[in-house]
Order: sequence, then structure tokens, then C-alpha cells
Amino acid sequence: MSVTIRKPKSLRGEIIVPGDKSISHRAVIFNSMAKPNKVSVRNFLPGEDCYSTIKIMRQLGVDIDIENDKSNSPIIIVNSVGLHGFKEPTNILNCGNSGTTTRLISGALAGRDFISVLSGDKSLNSRPMGRIIKPLSEMGAKIFARKNNNYAPIIFSGGLLKAISYKMPVASAQIKSCIILAALRASGSTKIFQKAISRDHSERMLIAMGSIIKEDKLDIHIEPSELDSIDVDVPGDISSAAFWMIAALCHPDSEILIKKVGINKTRSGIITVLESMNAEIKIINQRDIAGEPIGDIYVKTSNLRATEISGDIIPLLIDEIPIIALAASFADGITHIKNAEELRVKESDRISTTVNFLKSCGVEIEATNDGMIITGNPDNSLRYGSFSSNMDHRITMMMAIAGVLSTEGIKIIDDETASVSYPNFWETISNLGVKIE
Ligand code: S3P
Repeated sequence: MSVTIRKPKSLRGEIIVPGDKSISHRAVIFNSMAKPNKVSVRNFLPGEDCYSTIKIMRQLGVDIDIENDKSNSPIIIVNSVGLHGFKEPTNILNCGNSGTTTRLISGALAGRDFISVLSGDKSLNSRPMGRIIKPLSEMGAKIFARKNNNYAPIIFSGGLLKAISYKMPVASAQIKSCIILAALRASGSTKIFQKAISRDHSERMLIAMGSIIKEDKLDIHIEPSELDSIDVDVPGDISSAAFWMIAALCHPDSEILIKKVGINKTRSGIITVLESMNAEIKIINQRDIAGEPIGDIYVKTSNLRATEISGDIIPLLIDEIPIIALAASFADGITHIKNAEELRVKESDRISTTVNFLKSCGVEIEATNDGMIITGNPDNSLRYGSFSSNMDHRITMMMAIAGVLSTEGIKIIDDETASVSYPNFWETISNLGVKIE
């Protein structure tokens, strides 16, 4: 299938984005491993990535039911099996496109007294897994993987887990969470030294579940501990909200309210950056749900200014960089994005996919090893073209928002990819009055 999106006259409305992807995965995995009990996860993200996680938990012997609430949002009922309750799966565990599923579940499978194999699609099986296999092997897990233990499929075949002290080579919540999950079942006290802060949903949720995790700035100490299961109400995903924020800021006649969005400070780097770009953006009605701060985000047409994005803020907005690059193409001045080399190992090489796409639309943009340089133009009129996102959901949605800002329109060939993280993305865009041809 393919779709063409063109700029509407105005862009107004209220949006509720689906549940946070990172928190949805964690709520299911952590509750599966908690002391036997029955709990529910509300506002779970019904995206393909999160369903891969549910399918794998079921293959490991966890009884999980899916119900729908009044607004047709899925409620996941997890019957926890305990820290040591997983059963040997009789088939390969398919993680699909999901790096979070692979890396977090690797921490949960390491050192079990059975054999299991994690694999995924072409993109996933070409993403680096040595970064989790190395610390897990140091902890005593027996693991084999393709190309010198670097790529999935990954085979887990037992081992006795012991605590380690680990200095993380990259700021990554997936690596951190993987080690934490193994540390819960290891003998001794594990220490993780982070390079920079990354999203802390695992720490928050596991502490709420009664685990003994101590944080001191960049350092984390984990004691082995059982988990108490908890009901979770998942906040809206700020990474999904990001698309509507940029659409509203760059469209000449817009005003949008995005409701119930998670604004945890380890995820809200995009708000800090947009504020520094002179964006009219307000967070209202701030409150907490399930230990996570949330708020409603109000955005409207703004005259954006260029900025520099580099250093410790990068992990706090890593998934939003492609859509921020689109915003920068409408900002006055030259925007530099640096220290973002991690983008090269996401669902696609997001430095190349973003730069190639924007360049084809007529934007003055250049890739660097660790980022990009964008010369903005407030009168940017993105040129028509027909594009593929390389099966990368966030690139597909960035292209769609480029369409919302382009009079000539943008044609997207692999539009179905959005459902990896945002199943009703096209419905929402059309509810905003944007025609999909
Ligand atoms: C995620 C962490 C990030 C992010 C990914 C989800 C998570 O990856 O890009 O989409 O849920 O922990 P890294 O931690 O590897 O940077």
C-alpha cells in the first residue's frame, strides 16, 4: 500500500496518543517475573513491538489475557509466574522488529536452566547485540550468537549468574535494563556505571515492585530480589506525541492539545530543545500516574530558531531526532546535531534515512558521522517525492508529518510500518483534517 499526504489549510484539535512503548514492554515483562498474582496493564500500546513481547512471555509459560476497555484500548491481564517461573519454550522466540523486546528479555533469559533462542526480522538481526551479550556473559550466562556473539539469533543455554561491576560503553536504557533484570537473579550486588542518564522507566517500575535498586547520580546498585506485581496505567508516549508537536509548530495555522503524555525528565529532552528553538509549547495539568509524571501538551504555530543539540541530552530525545530534524528544516539558522551516533544502529541507520529523505525534499542538510547539519528555511516548501522509510516506523511517521507541511505532498510507500509503535497513526492524522490519498 502507499499513501500521499498534503498540507491542510489548518491543523486543529485534541489528540490522545497511545500508551508509551517502553513502559508497555516493561509492565508486561516485569509483571510476568513477579511473585504469582494476577494484575492488569491499562492503556497498553497495541503496537506490533509490544505484541511481540506478549507472545514471547506466553511462550515462556506466562498466562496473559487481552481484554478491551470502554474506549477499546487493550487491558493486559498478566498472571505472574515468579522470578524463576519461566518454562523452556518449544520454539524460537520471535522479537519481530523490537530491540527493546530482544535486549530486555535477554536479561530475563540469561542463566536459566533451559535453552532458548531470540531472533527477529532483517533489521533486528542486523542490530548490535554484543553490547548485551558481553555483560551477560561476564555475569556467567552461556550465550552464543551470530558473527562472534554480536548479532541475533541469540542462543541462551544456562549458566550461573553472579554480580558484576559494569561500566557501560554507551548510554542505553536497553543495556541498563537488560543487566538489571539479570542482576535480580544473580548472586551478590551488581553495580552499573552509566556514561550519561538514559530513560529510567525500569528503575522506577522495579522500585515500585519492591526490588532493592539504589541510584546515585550515574551509578546504579542492584541487589537480588523478588518482585511484587503491580497494576500499571501506561502514560501516553511522548515519542508518538512528538510528531504532532512538530506538525503544529511548523504549520502556519495550527493549535493542538495532546493529552495525558508521559513527561518523565529522562524522556522529555524534546521539550527542552523545542523551548530553546522558540517554540510556543506549554505543559498543563501536570500530575503523576503509576510513579510517572504526565501532562497535557499545548502547541501552536511558532517561528522556530535553529539550535545545537549535543552531549548528555541526546539519550533523552534519541527517538525524536528524525522529527526534530524536520523541525530544524523550518527554523531560522543552522542546526547542528552532534553525539548522536547511536542513530546509526536503530531500526534503520536514522542519520542516513533522515538526511536522504530531507535532501530529496529540497532541504539543505548534510550527514556527519555522529549527526547532521541542517540549514533551516522558515519558508521551506518540501518538494514532492515518493519515498520508502526502509521499514522504519519513526521515519514513516516523520515523512507523513513532512507531507502535512508540504503543499506538493509526500508519497509514502511503506505506510503500514507505523503500526510498529503507533497503530492508529493514520486515523489520528485524518481526524485532524488531513486528507490521505
Ligand atoms: C528504549 C530505549 C532506547 C530507544 C528505544 C526504546 C527502551 O534505546 O531508542 O526505542 O525502551 O529502553 P537505547 O536504550 O538502546 O538507546
